Amino acid sequence: MKIWPIDPLQKHFDDDPGFAEALRNLGAGRLVAVPTETVYGLAADATNADAVAGIFAAKERPSFNPLISHVEDLDAAERHGVFDAAARTLAEAFWPGPLTLVVERRSTSPICDLATAGLSTVGLRVPATRVTRALTAALGRPLAAPSANRSGRISTTTAEAVAADLGERIAGIVDCGPTPVGVESTIVATVGPDPVLLRPGGIPRGAIEELLGRPLAAPTDAADRPSAPGMLASHYAPDAKVRLDAEDVRPGEALLAFGPELPPGADGAIAVANLSPAGDLTEAAKALFGLMRRLDASGAATIAVMPIPDDGLGEAIRDRLSRAAAPRNMHRP
Ligand code: TXA
Ligand code: MG
Repeated sequence: MKIWPIDPLQKHFDDDPGFAEALRNLGAGRLVAVPTETVYGLAADATNADAVAGIFAAKERPSFNPLISHVEDLDAAERHGVFDAAARTLAEAFWPGPLTLVVERRSTSPICDLATAGLSTVGLRVPATRVTRALTAALGRPLAAPSANRSGRISTTTAEAVAADLGERIAGIVDCGPTPVGVESTIVATVGPDPVLLRPGGIPRGAIEELLGRPLAAPTDAADRPSAPGMLASHYAPDAKVRLDAEDVRPGEALLAFGPELPPGADGAIAVANLSPAGDLTEAAKALFGLMRRLDASGAATIAVMPIPDDGLGEAIRDRLSRAAAPRNMHRP
């Protein structure tokens, strides 16, 4: 497994040897972890079924779960999916950025069935990270990329975390440093009459609802909700148990704090990490997965998590934490 450090700010990536190597590996159907503004993605050529099968194998992911295809712009996205008025409004406002749109798939799209799990819809996203857009543009094909972590585990926001979790299972990692947003993209489906919020994420619900001028619908039936990792009850799971909305710290616990004031018992915590001493949700989202990994490594049996407000990015943070706290028997006996 290679690590290719790439300066994300350079003008053209064509001359960068790491970029060329990453591109060559993707072209050859190998797995390359790539940065996005949300989390690192485990990428492969979305049109190559063998390569996409490799993603499921490396992640140990149940293969009925569809993957997001990453493309360089809305034009490229429209080659694979049908954009209605709402989808186009959202794409124009929030792309490039942490929004995934689930739209009807075009029959002419070369994205393989394994990537879409055989559904008639496709999840498309234009990431804000330039190097990853440059990779998919240079490849001339979409990049299928779930979060770069073993299935059910904590998502990765640094190349080091990817290396620790997936190591020799992948060809290499494009390293552009820590990801700026820290939680995965918001997923909105625009396949029926009303846009549906499938997963809260990096774009707050309020920003989308304001733009559309109406509330996002909740998922209703099984068609809205494929049994997908990010939507399984137990996901983002550390080895430690997770106790939410903790008002105190009990013996043997580590503390994941939020805000300036720590709860009673914090002095005795096995380890303490603060998502944002200032109580800022953007800062907290960015820190979330890295701090969960750090507290998990402390060896504490339980991570006590202070209450997080539900507004803005808080909805996505609370969503990830509640999945981290869910019973684990679906993933580990
Ligand atoms: O920020 C992100 O979204 C990151 C980066 C790497 O782009 N990716 C990510 O992928 O979080 P993943 O595979 O961990 O989660 C993608 C979610 C899954 O829950 C999957 O069910 C949903 O997207 N999804 C993809 N295609 C879909 C479809 N056609 N219908 C419904 N859900 C879909
Ligand atoms: Mg994931």
